[in-house]
Amino acid sequence: MSKLLIDGCRILGGETKVQGSKNSALPILAASLLSRGESVFFGCPKLSDVDSSVKILRYLGCRVKRSGHTLVVNTESINRDDIPEAMMRLMRSSIIYAGALLATTGRARLTFPGGCEIGNRPIDLHLSAFKRLGAEITERHGELIFKAPKGLKGANIALSFPSVGATENIMIAAAKAKGTTVITNAAREPEITDLADYLNACGASIEGAGEGTVIIDGKEKLHPANHSIIPDRIVAATLMSASAVTGSEITLDGVIKSHLDAIIPCFEQAGCKIDFDAQKMRIKAPKRLKSLGLIRTNPYPGFPTDAQAPLMAVSAVAEGITVFSENIFESRYKHVGEFVRLGADIKVEGKVAVVDGVRKLYSAPLCAKDLRGSAALAVAALAAEGTTEIDTTEYLERGYEDLEVVLTSLGASVRKI
Ligand code: UD1
Repeated sequence: MSKLLIDGCRILGGETKVQGSKNSALPILAASLLSRGESVFFGCPKLSDVDSSVKILRYLGCRVKRSGHTLVVNTESINRDDIPEAMMRLMRSSIIYAGALLATTGRARLTFPGGCEIGNRPIDLHLSAFKRLGAEITERHGELIFKAPKGLKGANIALSFPSVGATENIMIAAAKAKGTTVITNAAREPEITDLADYLNACGASIEGAGEGTVIIDGKEKLHPANHSIIPDRIVAATLMSASAVTGSEITLDGVIKSHLDAIIPCFEQAGCKIDFDAQKMRIKAPKRLKSLGLIRTNPYPGFPTDAQAPLMAVSAVAEGITVFSENIFESRYKHVGEFVRLGADIKVEGKVAVVDGVRKLYSAPLCAKDLRGSAALAVAALAAEGTTEIDTTEYLERGYEDLEVVLTSLGASVRKI
């Protein structure tokens, strides 16, 4: 178990590069199973969730090499179609291997996935979509066995909710199915488009990724391809939050503006000035932030649920009332109790949190409860007087590459022990 020690109230400055997106890298690594040979991935962040994916790929028989942020995956010697429970439990994204294995071997034997406890996270949409594609699924003693001995068949799949993971799983499974698959009410997140770009580079035919209807013409054979992972918009939002709570000016390199369209106005409403020069973003925060108004989390292009906790840290020290409405996950306010220990004034009722910004936060021992929440605690600690100790930062390492090094390079005092 590691801890972060953060001395708050320091002004930040300078420039940092935003890491590659975890939520893009994970499904793309799974999708590499669809072609035989060597795919090279650039900008792959060094995270424990990526290590977990590499573990699964190696278990399945792939050879994987990492050099800095480049991962080389060679799938020539895949020799299994099962994933042990211990590996499935490492992260939610392990469920994406169901689609990848089904498309590759016509079989998959795995268990329910793990991941952060941010609410009941069912996989019913994934399972019903696989059935529509012709897979037989049996569930016994927590084990899920998927079979499509004659291969998957294209189908029309209408999602009752635009689930990111289900959309990705269907795209991967359908990329090699016989015939055409049409997903309606598909998730539109940038990570979906990144996955489609990779699969299309492998010879797949996917149209409409990033829109509500995605059309996949199945191909019998795909070939390996090289791909650069998109920058992580949630890490960008977290670093913007760090700048905001410390009243600082920083520059983020490697940011795609359109991916932050729902987030930038919240910072502007708080009084931050934001400029872009190609893929560089400069954010300059005022001495005292103003309320962020009303923030409703929603599927993309709405405000992302993953940025809710970091922006709540911002609202905790912004003058006036900010209201959050969490519409994606039902238990995503676990950071609130920790913010309150720092002196924040936050009330939660169901999916709504009301934050009355205080002038100052004061250090306290904190305990992280999930990935984005842990980053948000680090942001709040930057604004707190004194030294804040944050426990269980292994959550942080699942999604943030060396956050303590990044923040220290910007002038913060952050130690990992
Ligand atoms: C992905 C992201 C996660 C982000 C989330 C929402 C990855 C690795 N993770 O998670 O960081 O917070 O999108 O943007 O990309 N649901 C069902 N049945 C299902 C699937 C989902 O009811 O079969 C519900 C979930 O419980 C949740 C909502 O749909 O309430 C959204 O979940 P989903 O979009 O699937 O999130 P993930 O893909 O798990």
